Amino acid sequence: MAKQQHSLRVHWTSYAALQELPLADQQLMQAARKALAKAHAPYSEFRVGAAILLDNGEIVSGANFENAAYTMCLCAERTALATAVSTFPKAKALVMAITVANPHRPATRPGAPCGACRQVLLETELRQQADCRLLLQGESGEVWELASAKDLLPFYFDGSLL
Ligand code: THU
Repeated sequence: MAKQQHSLRVHWTSYAALQELPLADQQLMQAARKALAKAHAPYSEFRVGAAILLDNGEIVSGANFENAAYTMCLCAERTALATAVSTFPKAKALVMAITVANPHRPATRPGAPCGACRQVLLETELRQQADCRLLLQGESGEVWELASAKDLLPFYFDGSLL
């Protein structure tokens, strides 16, 4: 078989400030910021907040929940997604806003979701057969917008081989 080379492009939009985004997106990010204050992060002191806008109009949020047994730490994104699916199982996640705070070294750019959270975001998109737009913000600097979690995890694992 002939050798073939492939490539992928990742698309995202950057905004200089949150105020450049529509009001609904600003409010969702504010909800993520509020959620971040509820993080249980005594070990890393790194706080993450996530807020999801559902297609029923509800906003569901979550924060990271750390554990003295470090590998048990739960990320904000997955905490929020689990809350959404268990509270409103039929609703679709339209947008997720994610924001971070570090008391020792303030985040001057957004923090992207970890690999495990990307995989769970992908499961969400596949399950609902619709993309979930992502908004990422640090404590200062740009806000990044991605139309789909697939932009963060192009070679995702799905159930088609199971
Ligand atoms: N964390 C998240 O909540 N989301 C991510 O996508 C990356 C990391 C949390 C886990 C841990 O509590 C802290 O940030 C430092 O890794």
